[in-house]
Amino acid sequence: MKLKILVVAGDGIGPEVTNEAVAVLRDVAELGGHEFTFAERRIGGVAIVRDGTPLPADTLDEALASDAVLLGAVGGNEFNSLPPDKRPEAGLLNLRAALGGFANLRPAFAFKELAVNSPLRPEIVEGADILFVRELLGGLYFGGPREWNRSTGEAWNTMRYTREEVVRVARIAFKLAQGRRKKLTSVDKANVLEVSQLWRATVNEVAAEFPDVAVEHQYVDAMSMHLMNQPRSYDVVLTENLFGDILSDESAVITGSLGMLPSATIGGKVNLYEPVHGSAPDIAGKGLANPLGAILTGALILRHSAGLEPEAHAIETAVRKVLESGFRTPDLARTNPHGYTVLHTTAMGIKVRETIKTQLLAVSS
Ligand code: IPM
Ligand code: MN
Repeated sequence: MKLKILVVAGDGIGPEVTNEAVAVLRDVAELGGHEFTFAERRIGGVAIVRDGTPLPADTLDEALASDAVLLGAVGGNEFNSLPPDKRPEAGLLNLRAALGGFANLRPAFAFKELAVNSPLRPEIVEGADILFVRELLGGLYFGGPREWNRSTGEAWNTMRYTREEVVRVARIAFKLAQGRRKKLTSVDKANVLEVSQLWRATVNEVAAEFPDVAVEHQYVDAMSMHLMNQPRSYDVVLTENLFGDILSDESAVITGSLGMLPSATIGGKVNLYEPVHGSAPDIAGKGLANPLGAILTGALILRHSAGLEPEAHAIETAVRKVLESGFRTPDLARTNPHGYTVLHTTAMGIKVRETIKTQLLAVSS
């Protein structure tokens, strides 16, 4: 299996955590005789500083010529006063648009070992296993008109969707639900917004193609509460762009740390892989960051771009085993620092890689 991966590590903790994910992928390639090649390019704040733009043309060209793009994080406090189209985040949004992936898969999984990390009671989170499917190229993020008119003191953004945009992401979500527990919850605000009424009607239309999947609709406000009260009731959760952004961060509470959540964006020309966490400038460069979200994102590359399901699974199992053995990054050890062996970024990466090797060698022998 050959795979050309572009790494755009970006800002803050991005480079530290993607290093560990790349090391894991290199090991998997070596053990399985696969040929993975890695190139690196700039995006976000580091590209603003070095190239004067958050998404240099050379980064975009290289991304479009790759089989998969692995992104670390973008953003930093020094860019906060820039207008939206000049900020590091614009680099990521433009990259997303150019690669064309519209279905952002964000699994939120309650690791048993991390139950104490969640402010929710263990019996509420245990066994929770949700797959968010966030529409990634529409809604308020990309809809026009958009403007901040400083002379009139008004600003506006547009939450716009076409029927086709809803159909294509809904189909992916239903198909994924068919391979899981066959339940799909669609999130909207159809009691107030026309765009949500279109969303709901279209999801119902698509539902007719998937009679084996049970569909329910939830308003986003109610959903934000249900997710915390009964996370186990959800299987696939389908959302528009902004609602998915918000609910996926909220779902970090189920897992116990934002540092654990991976994501994959599929459906376009080139799949884009990024952990859900941000650039965490407060801990950047200190080697403290949790690389597990990035490493689990590496597993999604193997699953969705390489068709290497056993290897993807081996990474996920290794992460679980490392947690079972009591190893934690600082963000995961906050509630009980003395009960665990606290490992920093690189040491955690090495621990996971040792565990993957043992597993993959056991499988192949
Ligand atoms: C995410 C992030 C991005 C988003 C930002 C960095 C543009 O919050 O991936 O969830 O809002 O989509
Ligand atoms: Mn977000």
